[in-house]
Amino acid sequence: MIHSISVIMGKGKTGKKEPVERIDFKMGDVVSIVGPTGSGKTTFINDIELFAHENTPTGRKVLIDGKPAPDEYRDDPSKNPIALITQHTTFLSDLPVKEFLETHARIRQADKSRVQHFVNETLGFANQLTGEPILIHSRMTELSGGQTRALLIADATIICDTPIVLLDEVENAGIHRTKALELLRQHRKIFIFVTHDPRIALLSDFRIVMKAGMVMDVLHTDKKEKEYALEVSKLDDALCILRDKIRHGERLTGHLLEAFA
Ligand SMILES: Nc1ncnc2c1ncn2[C@@H]1O[C@H](COP(=O)(O)OP(=O)(O)O)[C@@H](O)[C@H]1O
Ligand SMILES: [Mg+2]
Repeated sequence: MIHSISVIMGKGKTGKKEPVERIDFKMGDVVSIVGPTGSGKTTFINDIELFAHENTPTGRKVLIDGKPAPDEYRDDPSKNPIALITQHTTFLSDLPVKEFLETHARIRQADKSRVQHFVNETLGFANQLTGEPILIHSRMTELSGGQTRALLIADATIICDTPIVLLDEVENAGIHRTKALELLRQHRKIFIFVTHDPRIALLSDFRIVMKAGMVMDVLHTDKKEKEYALEVSKLDDALCILRDKIRHGERLTGHLLEAFA
């Protein structure tokens, strides 16, 4: 049972020491990483995924419950506590969704009699995340970007059931973000999102601010920002509705701001 992971910072792109010395993540934390393109967001989550031990360009160190990661995390994929969903996840397999999930559940889950249960639960979870329902017999390669993301998040959460889930750039249209965060919070894991989505950032416990390859600051969502979160969600919902209408070839009618009420 893992309780926490910590990152001991190293240096930025120019070799300067990072202003923030250490970040501790504990089970149940939902965290965002923000910063402009090239600021080191992907590098930061890659350091976590690699269990960096001063052996990556950043010189960072990752500790699991205060200690360096045991070798078995790297050597045995079934023992690895981290699931990483990258920006460029594509499928080499052209399996139907059902077979893909069944195969994965058989590899990851000890209780083989419950494979169907895991498959159904994962698909149900994914379909709460995406507005375009995933059909169990569709092929993995036919899924849209949003559907793929939703399925991978659900797969990481339910079938892999790793205590730590890392997601690079989640602002894919087609994911219900508030719903996603709500569902993810029911699972006591550490979720770390690379994002510049205000909705996800404000629904996180804290956000890590990156610049020039360094962790510059850690901002905890305060009371004022939590109030903001509600309004941001409303704005964002309204924009999603508009986007959907445009996508479906409709005209925008009525008063624009009515959608924001
Ligand atoms: N601390 C660091 N030390 C050295 N190189 C870094 C550091 N952080 C990021 N980089 C390099 O900077 C480039 C951009 O980083 P990346 O993590 O891809 O940025 P982002 O995901 O924010 O767009 C990459 O080539 C990466 O290897
Ligand atoms: Mg990146």
